[in-house]
Parts: sequence; structure tokens; C-alpha cells
Amino acid sequence: MQESVLVYRNFLYLKVSAAAAGASLFAYVWHTPLGQPNGGTWLGYTLGVVSLGIVIWLAWYGIRKRRYGVGRARLEDWLSAHVYLGLALVVIATLHAGFQVGWNVHTLAYVLMLLVIASGAFGIYTYVRIPGLITANRAGLTLEQIMALIAELHEDCRKVAVTLGDEINELVQRSAEESHIGGNVWQQLSGRDPLCPTAEALVRVRAIARDLPQAQSENGRKLVLLLARQSELLGQARRDVRFKALIDVWLFVHVPMTLALLAALAAHVVSVFFYW
Ligand code: HEM
Ligand code: HEM
Repeated sequence: MQESVLVYRNFLYLKVSAAAAGASLFAYVWHTPLGQPNGGTWLGYTLGVVSLGIVIWLAWYGIRKRRYGVGRARLEDWLSAHVYLGLALVVIATLHAGFQVGWNVHTLAYVLMLLVIASGAFGIYTYVRIPGLITANRAGLTLEQIMALIAELHEDCRKVAVTLGDEINELVQRSAEESHIGGNVWQQLSGRDPLCPTAEALVRVRAIARDLPQAQSENGRKLVLLLARQSELLGQARRDVRFKALIDVWLFVHVPMTLALLAALAAHVVSVFFYW
């Protein structure tokens, strides 16, 4: 799923959605209701019903995409329509409400809708951009290969460190035992560890290596190179985890907010029928 989603069928869904938003805008400007434009005029009702229809169709995507036997091409087709119709909602629903917002359940529905749309926009950005960033970051390796290289380097570092005294030994030992990749959601998303024991070992060993006696200086230099390579691979692995987390994280907003939106819209429609 790459740019093709956005250019699907030569931007067919962009054109359809732009036409729908354009027609709503035209009707809104042309319409001269009694009093202020609002959701309760005939145009207001029409745009409200159209918005609700679009929201239900978009929410249904979650079910359709899990149906057995749906081909990739169909899914891309639907997703393309999903993205553009979702964006058109910003115009159609705003005109439905006639720019009237306040502290009420109607505006709650509106804000939830904007949150779903904003998270979706972030989501489509990750779908298009991140696969390329992952490939570039891995530089031809798989994550498993990167992890295996890190483990090998830990071993090499240990072997060299035993010839270099207690302080260096402890630093290397700690870097092997306490350097980690991933962790909680925030650690995964940050893609870095500011307190990484390997990075710290690299800085300290580099400083100590400058004053090592002649007999040990060769090994000191070697250890610095090994730790630098290890630190670089750890950075690569953390970025990989970060990219994967970014692909998933927005769905934790998009999906629950969709459910909240459907509930708020039900309340909006029911309350409107009560008071009108
Ligand atoms: C995505 C769907 C919808 C959204 C986001 C939405 C949002 C809003 C908002 C923000 C207002 C302005 C409330 C205010 O004056 O403070 C409004 C008004 C209104 N909406 Fe909707 N609405 C949607 C769908 C619908 C539907 C399906 C109906 C009817 C079946 C409807 C009927 C109305 C009515 C009658 C008003 C005027 C209420 C008033 O001025 O107090 N809306 N809507
Ligand atoms: C009110 C508007 C919207 C609603 C109710 C909605 C709802 C949904 C739902 C229920 C899913 C399925 C998630 C899952 O089960 O994995 C989904 C997926 C998705 N939505 Fe939306 N969405 C809306 C607007 C948007 C917009 C405006 C965009 C982009 C600009 C967008 C981008 C996406 C993407 C990229 C996916 C994932 C597709 C996949 O994994 O196959 N959505 N949306």
C-alpha cells in the first residue's frame, strides 16, 4: 500500500469528493434561509444526512477490510475512497452546522469527527512514507540480522575488554546487559534511548583509551571501534521499532474515536428530533 492509494484510478475519488464538497459549498452560498444558516434548515438537514451517510460508510470499512476473500485491489480502491471522502466531510459537516459551535453534544460529535479525520490523515502519511524509510534505515539487513550482529559485537567487546582493566570491563559488561531496544509505547515511539549504556560506554572508553599504556592502546582503539559500530546498530534497530510503532499508533485514536463519534452522532440526531 503505497502512493497508489492516493492516485487510485487517476484520482477518481479525489475528484468525486472535491465535487461533493464543491456542490455543498455552492448550495450553502446560494441558499438564503430565514435567520442564520444552521443544521435545522432543509439544506442543513440534507448536508447532515449526507455527512452521517459518509461517516457510517467510512466506519464500515473496518468490517469490510476483514472480510475473507477481499482482494488487495478492492481494498486499495476502498481505502482511496475512504481517504478522500473522509476529507470532504470536513467541508460538508462544517457547512451542515452553519459554522455554529458551542459546548454541546453536537459540537462534541463535530470535534470527534475532526479527531478521526486528523488521525486518519496521519495514518495515510505513515502508509505512504514509512515503508521507504524502513527500507532505507535497514540498509539491506533484516531486523533479525541487525539483532544478531549486535549480539556478536557484544561478545567481541567482552573479549577485548578483559585485557583493559576493571573500569572498562564494567562499562562493557553493563552495556551488554542493560542496553535495550523497544520498551513501552513512548520508548518505542521516541526511537532512541538517551541513557543508552552502550553510548555511555563508548564515550567513557574513548576518554580512558587516550591514556592507556602503550601495550594496551591497540586494544583500546579496537574496543572504541566495536562500541561505535554497536551503538550505530542499536540506533538502527530502535529506529526500525519506531517506524513500526508509528504505523500502528494512530489506529489507537482512529478506531476508538470512530466508536465515540458514532455514539455522539446517535445522541445528536436523537436530541435534535426531541427539540425540533
Ligand atoms: C457527521 C454528521 C454530523 C455532524 C458532525 C453534525 C454536527 C452538528 C453541529 C456541530 C451542529 C451545530 C450545533 C449548534 O448549533 O451548536 C449541528 C446542528 C444540527 N444538526 Fe447536525 N451533525 C451531523 C449530522 C446530522 C444529522 C444526520 C442530522 C439530522 C438527521 C442533523 C441535524 C442537525 C440539526 C437539526 C441541527 C440544528 C440544531 C440547533 O441549531 O440547535 N445533524 N450538527
Ligand atoms: C469520520 C471519518 C472517518 C471514519 C469514521 C473512519 C473510520 C475508519 C475505520 C473504522 C477504519 C478501520 C480500522 C481498522 O479496523 O483497522 C479506518 C481505517 C483507516 N482510515 Fe479511516 N475513517 C475516517 C476518516 C479517514 C480519513 C480522513 C483518512 C485519511 C486522510 C483515513 C485513513 C484511514 C486509513 C489509512 C486506514 C487504515 C486502512 C487499512 O489498514 O487498511 N480515515 N478508518
